[in-house]
Amino acid sequence: MSKIKTIFFCQNCGAQSSKWIGKCPSCNEWNTYVEEVVQKNSASSGSGLEKLTAKRINKPHRIDEITLSEDQRIDTNNNELNRVLGGGMVPGSIILIGGEPGIGKSTLMLQVALKLNKLKILYISGEESEQQIRMRAERIGMTNTNCFILTENSTQNIFTHIESLEPNMVIVDSIQTLNTAVIESSTGSVSQIRECASEMNRYAKETGVPVFLIGHITKDGSIAGPKVLEHMVDTVLQFEGDRNHGYRILRAAKNRFGSTSELGIYEMQNSGLREVSNPSEILLSQHDENLSGVAIASTIEGLRPMLIETQALVSSAAYGTPQRSATGFDLRRLGMLLAVLEKRCGFRLGAKDVFLNIAGGIKVDDPAIDLAVVTAVLSSGEDIPIDPKICFSAEVGLSGEIRPVNRIDQRITEAEKLGFEKIIISKYNQKGLDLSKSGIQIVPVKKIEDVFSFLFG
Ligand code: TYD
Ligand code: MG
Repeated sequence: MSKIKTIFFCQNCGAQSSKWIGKCPSCNEWNTYVEEVVQKNSASSGSGLEKLTAKRINKPHRIDEITLSEDQRIDTNNNELNRVLGGGMVPGSIILIGGEPGIGKSTLMLQVALKLNKLKILYISGEESEQQIRMRAERIGMTNTNCFILTENSTQNIFTHIESLEPNMVIVDSIQTLNTAVIESSTGSVSQIRECASEMNRYAKETGVPVFLIGHITKDGSIAGPKVLEHMVDTVLQFEGDRNHGYRILRAAKNRFGSTSELGIYEMQNSGLREVSNPSEILLSQHDENLSGVAIASTIEGLRPMLIETQALVSSAAYGTPQRSATGFDLRRLGMLLAVLEKRCGFRLGAKDVFLNIAGGIKVDDPAIDLAVVTAVLSSGEDIPIDPKICFSAEVGLSGEIRPVNRIDQRITEAEKLGFEKIIISKYNQKGLDLSKSGIQIVPVKKIEDVFSFLFG
């Protein structure tokens, strides 16, 4: 009989130690170490993966002799997913999709599986029954004779089925429910998750089949989050959004085969997720009357320009300390912009509550939204609406100067496409722009005061 071997794992970052320690030296969290049994079973009674992968024996190749196959990317038939992946799936890649429970990960992957009828797809579910998945498919309103559902937790059984089915793509929902016989600790523990993911990884790399792993992020550390997997997989996608809002954003947190600045936008409807190919339309709220406190920014997320509505409400503080609150925008940045307004425009904000909201429930990092934020605050404070045909695209500096932003021509084109008549940009962005050519009036400004007098006279 072999000796039982245990290791202590940090439930937060997956670091390991042979002794229990109070504070994780790797992520500095306290009390995250738990003991897990990691006794390996004797060699070959393993996971069944050996049978699948033993066929191929790799040997070293010179890099210039390695041939690239023609169609390196597999189209997922889902434009937003393709965009985030960097143009489609790469054969043999392993992709982790993380997100809070209920955000729509299973829906997204099932939808991809149902739509992609060119490939034989195996959807492995350790969470739901076949009936539940079938019901979801009914709800989405699609069916696919090439999509197979397997409800199974043991990787050993999974690889047996994979061997006979020979799928072209595998989806695992979720990695936390898998269980390998190689390791003795319980399902969902760090060492189990890590071992199952590494088996999947080996399978993907050695057979060239792309594998999607769904992973839950939990707030309490009881199930290890997909954090420990991030360095093992090729791509980490984050599926996020407010469960109460319809919009969902898919973004890449890591991508070995593409950029991480791309965004995919979906809308959760009664019949599944709809791809939103023109985000500006949804991010601008529709209203007929002219309201004060609303300004439109022309921003860029990834490679895609989009127009986003910012809404501000400025009112007299009900309590001694004025409140500042921002949704979808950095609160400290808002504080800074308010200080600039106070100092530069003589705008008395010291005794006012300021609330800022970015429409559509999305979070914006692009500094080009600054000017829209500032003008929305000014507009609400003065209670004068801004002409809805005007949009803004510039950063605001500490001394109230209007600073240039990158790729201004794309921002202008997008604003023009959506029917705006004027766009306010930094004077320093003007170089190289042909002001007469575009169908939209470009208003270059230098300081906040200029914007103020242009808008409110
Ligand atoms: P789900 O994909 O199960 O989330 P996850 O796998 O990330 O936990 O779906 C989450 C929510 O989506 C669920 O509350 C119901 C909703 N939903 C719709 O609104 N429309 C649909 O067509 C489907 C399938 C789900
Ligand atoms: Mg699910």
